[in-house]
Formats: sequence, structure tokens, C-alpha cells
Amino acid sequence: MKLRIENLTFSYEGNTVVDRLSLDIKDGEFVSLLGPSGCGKSTVLKLLTGILTPRSGSILVDGQAVNGVSERFAYMPQDDLLFPWKTILDNVCLYGQIHGSLSETRRKALSWFPLFGLEGYEHAYPASLSGGMRQRAAFLRTALCRADILLLDEPFGALDVITRGEMQDWLLLMREQMKKTVLLVTHDMDEAIYLSDRILILNPPPDGLSAALSVSASGRNREWLYSQSALRAEIYSKIRRRQTAAAVKGEGPRPL
Ligand SMILES: Nc1ncnc2c1ncn2[C@@H]1O[C@H](COP(=O)(O)OP(=O)(O)O)[C@@H](O)[C@H]1O
Ligand SMILES: [Mg+2]
Repeated sequence: MKLRIENLTFSYEGNTVVDRLSLDIKDGEFVSLLGPSGCGKSTVLKLLTGILTPRSGSILVDGQAVNGVSERFAYMPQDDLLFPWKTILDNVCLYGQIHGSLSETRRKALSWFPLFGLEGYEHAYPASLSGGMRQRAAFLRTALCRADILLLDEPFGALDVITRGEMQDWLLLMREQMKKTVLLVTHDMDEAIYLSDRILILNPPPDGLSAALSVSASGRNREWLYSQSALRAEIYSKIRRRQTAAAVKGEGPRPL
């Protein structure tokens, strides 16, 4: 097993947001963690990267316990930003620079620019790129980390719906070429269906992980995605929706 999480628990000032979470991800698998806003998705990724420390539980990569910040994970936060004063090449090589392998990272980065649709923009500044290109640059920066597990937190959340679709198509192609283990956090059901081998549905405590759904691998394209209504209905039924106060009390709608 590439990644194993066992009984991971975390609280913010007494408010438990991750409660005994356990899950496994196989080598090369693309798994989405899907759930409503506030259910703890970003917190799970921050626990994996070591930004937050769990109250209890364990994280194992290739069977070895990981504590604190680890090079095993490459993390793309929800609000990943490029430095406006650095060129795209310098931005994407940032982690290479920090880890002291800048020349190797630059070589690899330059060879990956075409794959990320950024050829010709190596020496441009972020302001001259479209939103989708900036996002791909942030993604290239993440992919250049030596880590073999990518953690992506709603990577396309800030993009308009057309660009988001294009980026998803692109990531679908990239999936095959990168051959990395990916844990994608999203609240977008179609994004999860389109990209994942497996979808894990996370609800806020006390429910936690409430389902694991496999997605068939063959013949993915937009038409295939639009035909996945049964899977969409199944996912929808597993997501715990916030009840209105009236529904909790058993009252019907009030007459106007
Ligand atoms: N720094 C923080 N301090 C206190 N509570 C937080 C903090 N960050 C997140 N939370 C709370 O923890 C819960 C889970 O947050 P988060 O992991 O960001 O959810 P998601 O990514 O699924 O939207 C939410 O109820 C949120 O309000
Ligand atoms: Mg989040």
C-alpha cells in the first residue's frame, strides 16, 4: 500500500474535525476525497503534509511511519499563488531551490513546459498568463517535487467553469503520463467522477468517511462523464446535507 492512514484524529480548539479517519491508497492510484465544505478535507491534507499535527493516529507511506513535514508528499494548497516578481521558470523551480537541487529541477522543468502547456512562457511573469496557465504553472511546481504522492486541494476551484473543464481534460491526460499517486480534494462531484479511480466520501464528524466508490477506468471523455447519472445519484445520496432547523424539529414548512 502506498499510503495508509489509520485512525487519524484532529481538533481545532476542542472542535473535532477529523475523527478516527482510516483509508488506504494504492501505488499509482488516483483517489478523490469528496465532501461538503467544512467537512475537514483541507485539514486531512494539512495533516498529511505535516503542517498540522494529529492528536492521534498514524500516517504510513510504503509501510513506514511519517511524522511531521515529509518529502514524500507534494502539496498544492487551495490558494496556491505564484510570486508575481519571479518568472514562471523561477516560480516552478521554487522547491528545487529550497531542496538544493536547482540545476536538476530547472532541467526537468524545462522539459515539462510543453506538457503543461507553458512552452514559450519560461521567462514570462505570472501577470501575463491566463488563469488556467497560472494554475498549470502552480501544478508544475507541485509535480516537480521529488515526492511520489501528490496532494491537490481543489486545484481548479478558483477557475471559471470553461477553464476548469479544460484543466480537468488536461489533468485526465496528465494522469497517465505522471504515474503518481494522487489524493485530490474536491467538492465537485463531476470532477471526482471524471478523474478518479476511486471516490471517498467524507462527511463532517461523527459520520466521517461514509463510502468508497470505484469508477470504471475505460473510455473516459465528456460524453462518458455526462452518462454517469447512476454514480452521481449514488454519491449524492451518501453526502450528508445540512438539515434545516425546521426539519430537525420535525416541523413542516411554515405557512406564509
Ligand atoms: N484554523 C482553524 N481554526 C479553527 N477552525 C478551523 C480552522 N480551519 C478550519 N477550521 C474548521 O474546521 C472544519 C474543517 O475545515 P476544512 O478542513 O477547511 O474543511 P473543507 O476543506 O472540507 O472545507 C470547518 O468547520 C472549519 O470551520
Ligand atoms: Mg478546503
